[in-house]
Amino acid sequence: MTGQRLAGKRVLVTAAGQGIGRASAIAMAREGARVFATDVNAETLSTIRDENLENIESFVLDARDTDSVKEGVARAAPDVLFNCAGFVHHGTILDATDDEIDFAFDLNVQSMVRSIRAALPGMLERGGGSIINMSSALGSIIGAPNRFVYGTTKAAVVGLTKSVAVDYIKQGIRCNCICPGTVESPSWHDRVKALGEELGSYDAAMAQFVARQPMGRVASAEEIAALVVYLASDESAFTTGHTHIIDGGWSGQ
Ligand SMILES: NC(=O)c1ccc[n+]([C@@H]2O[C@H](COP(=O)([O-])OP(=O)(O)OC[C@H]3O[C@@H](n4cnc5c(N)ncnc54)[C@H](O)[C@@H]3O)[C@@H](O)[C@H]2O)c1
Repeated sequence: MTGQRLAGKRVLVTAAGQGIGRASAIAMAREGARVFATDVNAETLSTIRDENLENIESFVLDARDTDSVKEGVARAAPDVLFNCAGFVHHGTILDATDDEIDFAFDLNVQSMVRSIRAALPGMLERGGGSIINMSSALGSIIGAPNRFVYGTTKAAVVGLTKSVAVDYIKQGIRCNCICPGTVESPSWHDRVKALGEELGSYDAAMAQFVARQPMGRVASAEEIAALVVYLASDESAFTTGHTHIIDGGWSGQ
């Protein structure tokens, strides 16, 4: 444990099996929160036990299933909700299938509607809460090629966030979203591999991803987790309704 910035808080994280969700669950537990780490993938989620943090409890939660979300929220009774589940589709508006669009809106946007609807009444009863939604710099702040479905859904997360923030601002609820640039994670490695196959070279694909980050590197999941800890904590008590950009200068040029 590194600190007590989240002592006394109960936190529910979706998509905590790997990547940013996992790093955030661990970072929040290290700051003293009681963390409920969830994912649809039981196998990857189970490895969070290797961290030996007794204040992390993990269980399967499918962010696309209303009953599963309701059960998870009832078990966690969260003061902090980190909606991290999301998926990246490749392609333009002409490539996107209706199924891909439906899937992405359901996982990247509607899942947040589900979990916020489930968690808000309890937060209101307890007098407050912090909701953190995973958006992306891509789509909400800056365009990028071949990310039509993804960018569209991540921009929708900004509207959802602002709406919830405004409606509940007087009742102690804060709602923010985070907009990362490119972040090292298992699914990102898959995307680099797929582009590498298209370009005929893994190194060329990696160079292309890194080139859009002016710092010349992508972020670690832990760097994004540090922002999640801040938004979960009372240090950010005066902050709501905002898009928090953490993109290595990508959109700031
Ligand atoms: N990696 C990046 O470059 C990047 C940048 C900006 C935003 N994001 C967003 O951050 C979030 C996490 O991405 P990542 O790259 O860190 O992790 P990832 O994509 O490697 O892992 C995603 C996790 O989501 C889980 N998941 C999938 N469907 C689910 C469902 N129905 N219910 C619950 N969990 C489910 C998967 O099992 C997996 O553990 C996503 O919303 C993504 O869009 C990622």
